[in-house]
Amino acid sequence: MNIFLTGYTGNLGPALAGALTGHAVQALVRDPSHAPVLPHVKVVAGSFEDLPLSLQGEIEVIIHSAASTAFLAPLEDLRRTNVEGTARMLDFARNCPRLKKFVHVSTACVCGLRSGDIPEARLPRPPAFVNSYEQSKWEAEELIFESGLPAEIVRLSIVAGSERDGAVRSAGALHHTLFWLWKGLIPMMPGSADTPVDLISTEYAAEVVAACANAPLAPLRVIHGCAGDRAPSLGELLTSLTTIFSTKSAAWQRGSIAAPMMVDAETFALFEETVVQSGDLLFRRVCQDSKAFLPGLLHPRRYLTRRASELPCREPSSDWRSLAQLVTRHVIDSRS
Ligand SMILES: NC(=O)c1ccc[n+]([C@@H]2O[C@H](COP(=O)([O-])OP(=O)(O)OC[C@H]3O[C@@H](n4cnc5c(N)ncnc54)[C@H](OP(=O)(O)O)[C@@H]3O)[C@@H](O)[C@H]2O)c1
Repeated sequence: MNIFLTGYTGNLGPALAGALTGHAVQALVRDPSHAPVLPHVKVVAGSFEDLPLSLQGEIEVIIHSAASTAFLAPLEDLRRTNVEGTARMLDFARNCPRLKKFVHVSTACVCGLRSGDIPEARLPRPPAFVNSYEQSKWEAEELIFESGLPAEIVRLSIVAGSERDGAVRSAGALHHTLFWLWKGLIPMMPGSADTPVDLISTEYAAEVVAACANAPLAPLRVIHGCAGDRAPSLGELLTSLTTIFSTKSAAWQRGSIAAPMMVDAETFALFEETVVQSGDLLFRRVCQDSKAFLPGLLHPRRYLTRRASELPCREPSSDWRSLAQLVTRHVIDSRS
């Protein structure tokens, strides 16, 4: 198939393109000098404002993975890339006469502040969002649902890193949080021990998106590329992290640094306020870095994954300990 891919230079891009071997992939890239090199991928220089109209006659599948993932950026900036960019991609798709499917890569966090079971379905606007990124991605999904195009959505949970070596192309909120935890600079976390923390590997994320692209069209299907029932609880994850940290640090081993306390929303907000008032620059940075990740823990949810399990694709690994270990080691080693 002729596949047009956006987001090739991102965290997910190379793994996703790698999962599409056997297809002719054309990847839209703003700066070709930063593009990975894969034999079946042809890099096409351009942007949402400058899409390669000459390719429209040959494209059969579009995978739209590009997005601004700057969680804490202003909503208007995020909308420009995530909502207007998606609108431009949909307009582009409308003039692709051979188009079989438009796969939109989204995030499980479009559920915003909702708790409980999150279905693989269009979600009503949540009461509020944890951050503007989530809102812009929810708004982008609405464009997909209203597009009238043969579209499907794959929502991913937190893509933690490679299940081979824990590597990520660029560190995100999870990785910053892991690093500050390791340094003992996160004394408390919002949430409770049984809050699920849904982590997947880059390889699984790529495979589930590729499987959706390959499968026969199911119009407006939503697929959760998530660990779902396999996700560890926050308590289990913290216990596992403590073990990993203890193998790498005497301070963790003898208990001079301990796992953070789990606290309610009010106590956590008070802690953040104290940090701001203290003027302590390091703690302010820690709070800023973890702001994109920690508040979501106050809204425990389980992503349902029945549709994902029907795809011809392996299940997400239930060995979250191995992934957590590899990613944590990678974070520590690459920043020490
Ligand atoms: N990683 C995760 O944990 C995660 C979790 C859930 C969902 N997702 C979703 O998965 C997709 C891929 O995420 P990722 O982690 O690979 O993101 P990423 O590492 O932040 O990469 C973003 C990609 O989008 C491209 N991009 C950004 N703004 C663009 C613009 N204005 N025009 C064209 N391209 C633009 C970037 O290109 P440049 O290199 O030119 O900047 C890059 O290729 C996104 O849709 C994201 O919402 C990711």
